[in-house]
Amino acid sequence: MHKVNLAENIYYVGFNDRKTHLFENIWPIPKGVSYNSYLIVDEKIALIDTVERSYIDDYLDQIAVLTDGRPVDYLVINHMEPDHSGALKAVISRYPNITLVGNKKTFEMADNFYQVKQQSIEVYDDSELSLGKTNLQFTTIPMVHWPETMVTFESTNKILFTGDACGSYGTLDGGIFDDELDYTLYDEEIVRYFSNIVGKYCAHTQRALKKIAKYDIKMIASTHGMIWRSHIDFILDKYQKLSTYQTEPGAVIVYGSMYGNTAKMAEIIARQLAVRGIKNIRVYDSSKTHPSFIISDIFKYKALILGSAAYNNAMFPTVETLLTTIKHMGIKNHLLGIFGSYSWNGGGVKNLMKFSEEIQWELVGEPLEEKGAMKADHFDRYVNLANAIADKLLMD
Ligand code: FEO
Repeated sequence: MHKVNLAENIYYVGFNDRKTHLFENIWPIPKGVSYNSYLIVDEKIALIDTVERSYIDDYLDQIAVLTDGRPVDYLVINHMEPDHSGALKAVISRYPNITLVGNKKTFEMADNFYQVKQQSIEVYDDSELSLGKTNLQFTTIPMVHWPETMVTFESTNKILFTGDACGSYGTLDGGIFDDELDYTLYDEEIVRYFSNIVGKYCAHTQRALKKIAKYDIKMIASTHGMIWRSHIDFILDKYQKLSTYQTEPGAVIVYGSMYGNTAKMAEIIARQLAVRGIKNIRVYDSSKTHPSFIISDIFKYKALILGSAAYNNAMFPTVETLLTTIKHMGIKNHLLGIFGSYSWNGGGVKNLMKFSEEIQWELVGEPLEEKGAMKADHFDRYVNLANAIADKLLMD
């Protein structure tokens, strides 16, 4: 096996998952994902998080090689979600004298998930643990994205182990550090990971960024995706922007349409936005594209223009699913446009208006609705809606 060193005595022990279709059994991962664990070999030996349980055998084998058969003394648990705690019981079985290191909530979860009663050290903000030459410092970052989440700072090499924070979808195809690969190729998957997994907790992420600012960070080692050492500012800036809902001037147009009438309106609006010089336009059929990708673009672009046909006197079901996710995530600071169609009693635009009241984004232009197909002499209404959105975007 290749030994991957973050520092002389600190190793990457991770695995690429190219099999799983849905992360957390919800979010599509066509480019896969990596589960990253780290091993520090000093007078004492410590693991930082583990891996998903499918990789237990290879994981334990790699640890045995890297430790030259010495027992592991500590397991630092930055995050208890099972994609990282999946090997917890196996690690304890292999190293029965191991001490778990976490905070109060960590151990409650370890007990709930795995009924583990292992010797442990409870840490708090700024607690420290010496491994010999290596010193670890701990800082809790609650709700990024679970209650027990924390970061661990290795102060000699200035490596911050961040749990899910600063992570990404996408396997590590050979390159593991940000300067061993074209990190810009991961941009979409970084944003999608943030929006899907961490996006509900932007205020908590802001608090976390402020808490970790005390560290002189030379490397960021997350539990997913590349290790950051040459482009640390890139990932920290990205987290700063995303967690404060800073967007680019652009529009996401999403529609639910059975027979194409609502879809035609979306095309007119998209074209007019382009005529007005808006370059970032993403048009999605909600029946085809998973909310994971749409939510990600909503985090990137300022305007969301929603179209819904009526369906059983309600919103189109796939639009409704998307909007439930948006409300649940509490996404803020967007422009909103609304359009749709109905056959007899309505339900699409009416419920989009309810969404508008609940989400309290800035509603731009007049909500537009057609009975049946879009009438040729209504064309200008859709152009006007696009113009109103474009005016706002171009003002930014
Ligand atoms: Fe990658 Fe929240 O677990």
